[in-house]
Amino acid sequence: MIITIDGPAGTGKSTTAKTLADRLGFEVLDTGAMYRAVALAVIRHRVEPDDEAAIQPLLRETRVQVQGPKVWLNDEDVTELIRDPEVSQAASRVASLPVVRRFLMELQRSAAKGRNIIAEGRDQGTVVFPEAQVKFFLTADPAERAERRRRELAARGVCRSIDDVLAEQNERDRRDSSRDMAPLVPAPDAILIDTTNRSIEEVVALMEEYARSCRGR
Ligand code: DC
Repeated sequence: MIITIDGPAGTGKSTTAKTLADRLGFEVLDTGAMYRAVALAVIRHRVEPDDEAAIQPLLRETRVQVQGPKVWLNDEDVTELIRDPEVSQAASRVASLPVVRRFLMELQRSAAKGRNIIAEGRDQGTVVFPEAQVKFFLTADPAERAERRRRELAARGVCRSIDDVLAEQNERDRRDSSRDMAPLVPAPDAILIDTTNRSIEEVVALMEEYARSCRGR
């Protein structure tokens, strides 16, 4: 069974995916982490994140693996490195390139084969798993999302002003929603949940109830 959770950054996708997966006995597929790993490879090769011609050959020597919370790039554990703000921006830029999207879509589909998966990202319910039995799309007030992100960065020792975080978030939102291939939009059959002023517990309870009812059908 496949459950998808899509939505912009800071809406609680990762936390709700993990908690829901624990309750249902599913595994999580963090697809944003895959885009981040490709972005890190691109940065390290000093290639511009929009340079499709240069990135295409690079992908042939790029191996990305995601297992639960751990992310590997060519056998190197990059779990922490990919969370840097520089990688966030580059990830959103490489994510506009069809060659990168096709590369990662194949990985995502093969990672899900034969498993019970909660796939979270931007296009999981629309493009990668249109056949998923349960689809959620999370939204939240931009100021609250930025504040969540600021706290998350601070907890990792990266101190940013709320204005900087909000500006970067707006730029990523704009790019992720306006790209030609697989833009960030809810699937027509997705359940929309606004997580502003809702606890993780409340959101997961809603999701769990819905997922269990679909499972029983
Ligand atoms: O969820 P995240 O912030 O870790 O994702 C990083 C970037 O990757 C995000 O700005 C857009 C891109 N992304 C995407 O285009 N499609 C996905 N399924 C997941 C992430």
